[in-house]
Amino acid sequence: MYKSILLAMLGAVALNAADVREIREDIEIPYISYDIKMGEHFDAVQTNCLTCHSFGYVTNQGPQSKEQWRKKVEKMVVHFKAPITDADSADITEYLFKHYGNGQEK
Ligand code: HEC
Repeated sequence: MYKSILLAMLGAVALNAADVREIREDIEIPYISYDIKMGEHFDAVQTNCLTCHSFGYVTNQGPQSKEQWRKKVEKMVVHFKAPITDADSADITEYLFKHYGNGQEK
């Protein structure tokens, strides 16, 4: 009795696995590119900020103060473990504030 229930369950699992494979072949992941402003320290942004996510995370924030950008970069390092040096963090904050800032220091 238990054996046949177990076999039925295994059969269901195998069937589901096949279904998932079939569905996954149909999925097309859209490629969305975001405009990035060029400027001083862009190289530091390119090296450190585009490894985990797209630049859309930056542009979707809207204009931020220098303090807010500094804290966003710090959040990437402290909470998400981005391996970014202090010097690069400072350069990136400058770049972000210059091109995506609101003109406010705080
Ligand atoms: C180690 C991986 C990693 C790196 C490198 C990284 N980020 Fe992130 N970032 C994340 C994760 C994870 C999230 C949160 C994603 C989510 O919530 O969907 C995020 C979210 C964000 C957001 C959205 C707002 C927020 O506070 O969550 C911004 C803005 C952002 N990152 C900017 C940057 C910038 C600028 C850099 C370069 C200094 C950077 N990221 C590098 C992992 C990374």
